[in-house]
Amino acid sequence: MKMIKKTLFTKTPVIIGPESDYDNYIMAIESSCDETACAIVKNGREVISNVVASQIKTHEKYGGVIPEIAAREHLESINVVIEEAFKQANMNATQITAFAGTVGPGLVGCLLVGLNAAKTLALVHDKPFIGVNHLNAHLCANYIDTDIKPPFIALLVSGGHTQIIDVKSYSEQIIIGETIDDAVGEAYDKVARLIGLAYPGGPILDKLAREGDANAFKLPEAKVDGYNFSFSGLKTAVLRLVKSFDGKDLPVNDICASFQECVSTTLFNKVKKALSESGYKQIVIAGGVAANSEIRRKIFSLGNEGYRVCAPPMKYCTDNAAMVASCAFFNTNTFDDVDVEVFSRA
Ligand code: KG4
Ligand code: ZN
Repeated sequence: MKMIKKTLFTKTPVIIGPESDYDNYIMAIESSCDETACAIVKNGREVISNVVASQIKTHEKYGGVIPEIAAREHLESINVVIEEAFKQANMNATQITAFAGTVGPGLVGCLLVGLNAAKTLALVHDKPFIGVNHLNAHLCANYIDTDIKPPFIALLVSGGHTQIIDVKSYSEQIIIGETIDDAVGEAYDKVARLIGLAYPGGPILDKLAREGDANAFKLPEAKVDGYNFSFSGLKTAVLRLVKSFDGKDLPVNDICASFQECVSTTLFNKVKKALSESGYKQIVIAGGVAANSEIRRKIFSLGNEGYRVCAPPMKYCTDNAAMVASCAFFNTNTFDDVDVEVFSRA
């Protein structure tokens, strides 16, 4: 079925998606957390320009993202990233088929900045507006520079979410499992803080884990029914382990490696179960934590068992706007009403 959107003023029909008989150039904006990003993507898979302004340096000194400060930084960066995205693509607004923006979930003050910019561009240039769910967008990062098509199983692992999704088609996604407490990225960041690592903890913990012994400490793998997960017990176990050193030097690398082994094994086992029960032959990973070296290694090992494994390159795993543009192209479950409000939780 063709995805038809209307331009905002003249209500001219525009065909978006794989069934369009002309090239779609979608400009998208992403500002749900601490990255201000703008990208132009052709036909959902070919990145024409991709600009990301990261606020990591600003939030580093607070050990986490301060929403109010993040929103103000988005305001300062938004026009710059939009201009840069046009410049890198050597394109102007008249050549854009539709403008897209992240609606949620995310930090409300931050989302407002990017979403209003996307709506304004659509209004000013009389183009369709496409509002996108951030989690759907992470999944669509897998379509960039590949030819993969649903059905497949997706493992979505980010700072706020841990989900196993049955992706039946571009727009039909059924969450078959999720965390009942902490998200994987959250567990990484909390454990990193516990052992004294800087912000953002996840990537630093990953790096140190590669230098440590994964079998140094046996940490508990939570037994949760079906495809659901729990990571808060593991976090408490690391806390107990840290306390047992009673102020003596911590074997930081070994703790990181043991924690990473436990998390990646848990994820791997559930993914394998989902694959064998669904009968699908394709698995994709997505979200910021999909940048993790050991999670990638374990999931990619499924390639030796006859599965096609996809994971976006690192730059499309963490927050970016190219994935938002791809989602606006492929997924029909979008928010096309220009009055759509931002939302904080999924
Ligand atoms: O998807 P994302 O950019 O933001 C959202 O949560 O939507 O994910 C950020 C999360 C953070 O928790 C960060 O620590 C984690 O992804 N992360 C990693 C790695 N790179 C980013 N966690 C483990 N290993 C990594 N290499
Ligand atoms: Zn994200």
